[in-house]
Amino acid sequence: MQRLIPALRQQHVSEGLISVLHTLQTASKEISFRLHQGALAGVLGSTLDENIQGETQKKLDVLANQLLKDMLLDCPHVAAVASEEEDSYVVGAADGDYLVAFDPLDGSSNIDINGLVGTIFSVLKKPADSDAANMFLQPGDAQVAAGYMLYGPATMLVLTTGQGVDMYTLDQTVGEYLQTRSQIEIPAETSEFAINMSNQRHWQPAMQRYIGDLLAGKQGPCEKDYNMRWIAAMVGDVHRVLSRGGLFTYPWDARKTDKPYKLRLLYEANPMSFLVEQAGGLASDGEQRIMAIQPHDIHQRVGVILGSRSEVQRCLDYHQD
Ligand code: AHG
Ligand code: MN
Ligand code: MN
Ligand code: MN
Repeated sequence: MQRLIPALRQQHVSEGLISVLHTLQTASKEISFRLHQGALAGVLGSTLDENIQGETQKKLDVLANQLLKDMLLDCPHVAAVASEEEDSYVVGAADGDYLVAFDPLDGSSNIDINGLVGTIFSVLKKPADSDAANMFLQPGDAQVAAGYMLYGPATMLVLTTGQGVDMYTLDQTVGEYLQTRSQIEIPAETSEFAINMSNQRHWQPAMQRYIGDLLAGKQGPCEKDYNMRWIAAMVGDVHRVLSRGGLFTYPWDARKTDKPYKLRLLYEANPMSFLVEQAGGLASDGEQRIMAIQPHDIHQRVGVILGSRSEVQRCLDYHQD
């Protein structure tokens, strides 16, 4: 089985980017170790603080953020980082070529139930001409690498550098990520969907109609029965979609007039969209490709519909009417 760094060299990934990805995997091993120690490491539970988005921070949100931030800012190739848990971007090496946006711990509500969580990251090139305040405001199409680490029964790294999607599994005995699946392809058809059904009454009419038709099963217009899954961690739901197909969505919610979406563009939606498109799937906000969106804020939120090509397209057709 191939190790991560030799696999990246074989794909002719630049040494600078390899160094950034090496730093990310090093940080993830430490996070994985702490998570697997659970209550023994004294890292469960909440802090008394909130992040800039008004969410109560778990101890592990803060710990994972600190580990990733410290290690990335130590890497000579990283010019700046942006994180879900930081108010603004943080500047690193003056000569660094790369920017890293990350969600240090995705699925925070799963921490205290020993459920699935992960780290999501997106790597951009530092633009030559933009001022520091705007350097992260690049569309997802500008990403040079993206992926996630999934801290499940096995710790996995799922990565794209724009040459397809490969999956690695952390071999705990030697502390190395080994390639266990390569060139992932999401099946175009599916009969599995993921949505938080408890919000149904707050969705837009198009999403209400679409999910209503899925639930009608064989008797409805889809003429087949669907199954539903919800892990409450995007990283886990997207991993299932990449592994066996499906549709994942976190749609518009009428209750939150100022923030009608939940997921964040820069460090959740864009990296997952890059993976999904590289695996032959679709990723849309309901109107356009997520990766075509020009961001205006580091913490901006967006509607997400992604996964199996034909199913996402069917969902989008409901949104055209
Ligand atoms: P985070 O833990 O990084 O704040 O993100 C949580 C997000 C996402 O991972 C997941 O899909 C969604 O929140 C779960 O939302 P519900 O609480 O509505 O299930
Ligand atoms: Mn959060
Ligand atoms: Mn998240
Ligand atoms: Mn998070």
